[in-house]
Amino acid sequence: MHTFIWGTATAAYQIEGAADEDGRGPSIWDTFSHEPGRVRDGHTGDVACDHYHRWPQDVALLAELGVDAYRFSIAWPRVLPEGTGAVNPKGLDFYERLVDALLEAGIAPVPTLYHWDLPQALEDRGGWLNRDTAGYFADYVAVVAERLSDRVSRWITLNEPFVHMVQGYALGVHAPGRALMLDALPVAHHQLLGHGLAVRALRAAGAPEVWIANNCSPARPASPSSEADRAAAEAYATLHNWLFNDPLFLGTYPDLPSGLSPGSSSGEPSFGVTLGCVRDGDLDVIATPIDGLGVNYYNPTLLAAPCPDDVLPFDIVPLTGYPTTAFGWPVVPDGLRELLVALKERYGAALPPVYVTENGCSQPDVPGQDGVVDDQARIAFLDGHIAALDRARAEGVDVRGYFVWSLLDNFEWAEGYHQRFGLVHVDFATQRRTPKASFHWFRERIST
Ligand code: FCB
Repeated sequence: MHTFIWGTATAAYQIEGAADEDGRGPSIWDTFSHEPGRVRDGHTGDVACDHYHRWPQDVALLAELGVDAYRFSIAWPRVLPEGTGAVNPKGLDFYERLVDALLEAGIAPVPTLYHWDLPQALEDRGGWLNRDTAGYFADYVAVVAERLSDRVSRWITLNEPFVHMVQGYALGVHAPGRALMLDALPVAHHQLLGHGLAVRALRAAGAPEVWIANNCSPARPASPSSEADRAAAEAYATLHNWLFNDPLFLGTYPDLPSGLSPGSSSGEPSFGVTLGCVRDGDLDVIATPIDGLGVNYYNPTLLAAPCPDDVLPFDIVPLTGYPTTAFGWPVVPDGLRELLVALKERYGAALPPVYVTENGCSQPDVPGQDGVVDDQARIAFLDGHIAALDRARAEGVDVRGYFVWSLLDNFEWAEGYHQRFGLVHVDFATQRRTPKASFHWFRERIST
């Protein structure tokens, strides 16, 4: 094992398939993807990469790649089909086999306990708008930890609570498809509470290291000389970054900027006071110390002052002048350095070691006549971002790992199978896996 951890990442619903097998219950993503018009071309995760059956081949690919660690997620509805109550032993058996195979191959398993696949039965009770979901999450985590904590030493509680709240509950473009706008804000608090309770459950089971994986984006003002644009950028940073990190490392919620308070346009002093869903003691639970901050970075966000009748206190404007990925996302490697340095500046000694738990790009990868996927743009992307990470380390940020999103091309949420992020190409008709040029490049890069 290197002291710096090199890895790749995946998530259960995006790769496993076997949606109805071995007692798995339905998740919000099963429901959502089967609703007409939700996912591009009606794609679903029913089969995905068929990893549930092909995992030995995927572990062999990881071994060939030479990574130190593999970040995958555990599907809550495989372990507890109803979200709470009866445990499905076959679900736990699956993850135990995977963990054992990884360990046998010398690869550290880094399971994420929640990557957006809430059991549908819990959504039926209000999902993350319901405070009880936080407690159910901790109960589920305790079940998993009881089985695996003798072998797994690094755990990730949640994946990207910001993105889950915004896409799933505010805009409705991801499961569960609710478009509540600012009324979705309690989803932030309930997920963070679930995180804190899960940290405590993991500690009780003897887990040595617990991280969270937060999506963060450096917020840049469209015109740096405009005070209104700078205020818009700070408002956006509060929502995207500080709302999900301040309570972990400072034990408080940031003040919400004017315009981000549901039911009020006047601006309210604090998130907790405004929402009324934060109870005494919650912040102590959320601030339970953790051992690592996982940062998922894709691109910066450019902000301008809002128009007078805008609901939100910022306008997201296109960030131009950079190459773009197949998704249309700008490729800005130095944004990773900028972000890591900003986290260090804000939290100082309270910031635990940082791990880049996701970074990568979608490209229109097609195998050539010779079967080779020559994804030079991905190689340039990864190379540039790893260099930016080195610059952040040189500026004093304690970054200890880097995980490429993703090992495999997979089900990219609302985009279905249209966006390919893998180091390994997957032909979804045959399930044939073909390592891309970037796979070979990454293997070389991390072996030196
Ligand atoms: C992140 C998600 C991950 C993947 C990448 C492209 O927001 O965590 O599952 O879809 O984006």
